[in-house]
Amino acid sequence: MQFVSAKGAQMPALGLGTWSLSGQTCYDAVRAALEIGYRHIDTARLYGNESEIGAAIRDSGIARTEIFITTKIPMGELHAPQVRRNVAQSLKRLGTDYIDLLLIHWPSRREPLAETLGAFAEAKAKGQTRFIGVSNFTVALLREAIETHRADIVCNQVEYHPYLSQRPVQAATAQYGLILTAYSPLARGRVATDRDLARIGQAYGKTPSQVALRWLLDQPNVATIPKSTTQPHLTANFAIFDFALSAADRAVIDAKRTDLRLVDPAGWAPEWDPA
Ligand SMILES: NC(=O)c1ccc[n+]([C@@H]2O[C@H](COP(=O)([O-])OP(=O)(O)OC[C@H]3O[C@@H](n4cnc5c(N)ncnc54)[C@H](OP(=O)(O)O)[C@@H]3O)[C@@H](O)[C@H]2O)c1
Repeated sequence: MQFVSAKGAQMPALGLGTWSLSGQTCYDAVRAALEIGYRHIDTARLYGNESEIGAAIRDSGIARTEIFITTKIPMGELHAPQVRRNVAQSLKRLGTDYIDLLLIHWPSRREPLAETLGAFAEAKAKGQTRFIGVSNFTVALLREAIETHRADIVCNQVEYHPYLSQRPVQAATAQYGLILTAYSPLARGRVATDRDLARIGQAYGKTPSQVALRWLLDQPNVATIPKSTTQPHLTANFAIFDFALSAADRAVIDAKRTDLRLVDPAGWAPEWDPA
């Protein structure tokens, strides 16, 4: 396993995404992933699956310290008392004494960032979470969090795949020494039928999806969290540590990067940086 690190946080570069997984499907996917060797699970209060993830981790018999758990608190729950309540509830559902990384799921226009970051810092000081971070933050929001509010964040989780350039955000995360966690790294399955990625993959004996994940993890301080519910995909997505893309192949994929944003909820998303 490859790791990424920032400000004392060490995160397995590949994790399992769990958005939309629920009940037995979620439990089975997490158990299967842990069997394969995944040691990083991404969830959120909004996904409604923290209890299943907690049960799968407990039943796996793997030591809690071996597994990196990220969860997120949603917009609308970001005032300090709500943060305190959400943290307590997530810990209970996950069946753990601590979260590894607690994220602001989406930036909020109504709840003051300083208040939320203060409550996140409090959770960290109490040992309820080892690290704190943000998700779906633009360059301006990162600047506000770090330069205005002096937040000790380690990560910005954003949509990132071969069809969405994140150059401005990537430059800002690098400038501030943060991890960029790429969500929807397979463009929700679209990369699987990409002809350029398929052609590149042939030379390495890899699928287009594996090429897309390798391309992400070849970039400095980028982690990623593909989701899968099927054993062959879970296994394939984990089999990306035995090859490296050539500079020429990386350049072909870099050149594909455009502005295909798949996660852009109206009235909710911030004003994104230009692609
Ligand atoms: N912070 C945020 O606001 C935010 C937003 C969106 C997502 N996320 C996180 O990021 C995670 C991943 O993103 P995502 O779920 O949107 O999409 P994704 O990981 O890009 O794609 C998932 C889709 O790809 C398919 N797939 C997985 N492995 C494959 C393979 N090897 N070959 C072909 N198809 C494959 C899956 O189907 P199968 O199940 O059949 O394999 C599923 O339909 C989420 O689950 C969530 O944890 C965070």
